[in-house]
Amino acid sequence: MVAAKAAALLDAFDSSFNVRKHHLELIREAFVNEGIRALETDSDEIPAMIPSYVNSLPTGNEKGTFISLDLGGTNCRVAAVQLLGDGKVEVLEVKSAVSGDFRLGKVESLFNWMAELVIELVTVKGRHLFSPSEVDGSETIYLGVTWSFPVNQTDINRGKILRMGKGFSLVNADGRDLVELFHEAFERKGMNARVSAIINDTVGTLVAHAYQNPLARIGVIIATGTNAAYIEKVDNIVKLPKNYRSKHAHESMVINSEIDIFGSPAYLPVTEYDVQLMAGSAQPNFQHYEKMMSGMYMGELTRLVITDFVDKGALFGGVHPGGFDVPYSFQTAFMSAIERDFTAGHSDSINLLTDNYEFLNKPTERDVEIIHHIVKTISTRSAHLAAATTSSLIQKQDLHRDDSTEPIVIGINGSVYEHYPFYEERLMAGFELIYPQNVCSRIKVELARDGGTVGAALVAMLCSSKNK
Ligand code: BGC
Repeated sequence: MVAAKAAALLDAFDSSFNVRKHHLELIREAFVNEGIRALETDSDEIPAMIPSYVNSLPTGNEKGTFISLDLGGTNCRVAAVQLLGDGKVEVLEVKSAVSGDFRLGKVESLFNWMAELVIELVTVKGRHLFSPSEVDGSETIYLGVTWSFPVNQTDINRGKILRMGKGFSLVNADGRDLVELFHEAFERKGMNARVSAIINDTVGTLVAHAYQNPLARIGVIIATGTNAAYIEKVDNIVKLPKNYRSKHAHESMVINSEIDIFGSPAYLPVTEYDVQLMAGSAQPNFQHYEKMMSGMYMGELTRLVITDFVDKGALFGGVHPGGFDVPYSFQTAFMSAIERDFTAGHSDSINLLTDNYEFLNKPTERDVEIIHHIVKTISTRSAHLAAATTSSLIQKQDLHRDDSTEPIVIGINGSVYEHYPFYEERLMAGFELIYPQNVCSRIKVELARDGGTVGAALVAMLCSSKNK
């Protein structure tokens, strides 16, 4: 009886979570069209398709030492990046976790703290890499900044902070100029330092990967959040100021798509669980696509599905485990651990459940098999959706055209892509649903490590002659 109930529920679950070929193609086309609209509309309301003002990619031969500062959702990393040519780099960094006080406090406190990390790198840890006049402050030091949050950029070193997600809620940050905030903090700390470039982490991923493989045309991050950067013709970026477009006509620019905010329930394959997650989120009706697939949300979706199965008597004998009602308590890392569990009787998965929740009766092997099926399906949907949205950027650049034999190189990075078992294979399977074999065989998805750090240093280098 219970087995039949579970089988029927799994069938219904599968049919709502498995995204078919025609649906992936529809998402791809819808994302292409949303992208075109966002390239035409200059508005803080639609913070998508953001110009990066990065007009050239590295060749791999660049040399020199440059400083980068990379603020992500968890850590701030300040690094001296030595570009050695031949696509090789050496990185010496000062890394520190962003404490709760800095996430939620005054914007000035966060920037003071980041300025102190730069001082630590230049005067202590990386002192030997800088000239005496850079160390004593008589010569200006220049740095590239990677910002993993949306910024409405108006030049390579100008841009307004639009919104800080990922648990940040700074006092007086929205609308402030990011570079001015850094310069004010450098002044408060008596430093002779300037920001020569600001980039999104996906722009950093693309630029850093291009240093290793100059054919790279797309940079993707699948981590706590998700996003992608690609190369667009300046002529198509209608929202750029007219004089900029005519001065740079026929050139190209890296675009931070902010693809995370694309998509609407009108065409995304939203399930009842996605609706529930959205309703319980701090920013309802925002980032529909990201909430269906990124590392911050997959665990929570799994928790909602499991709760429904327990409600219907198809898991844990119909008894809710203690603590399972806590939102976001089931992490995406638990899903990875369950997929990686090849122990006899799924003992690792059973231990993971009993270590984190209170059970009246220990979960059975069958319970774990059902949960394994659920997590596999949710992560497969994530990878297939990532393939569909990445393919919208392939289409946008016409990289898939039949008369080309060039590899389609995608630099990709992020905890989900790097650490979630079988994610890479599932992403490729997504591309295989969307494209014929002759295109798929040209798609090269390559791991791009250290995009934030190396990318910002490269961009600082690419525009250093302009700014110094
Ligand atoms: C942010 C993007 C960022 C992405 C990956 C998203 O939530 O809005 O700016 O690139 O996460 O870190």
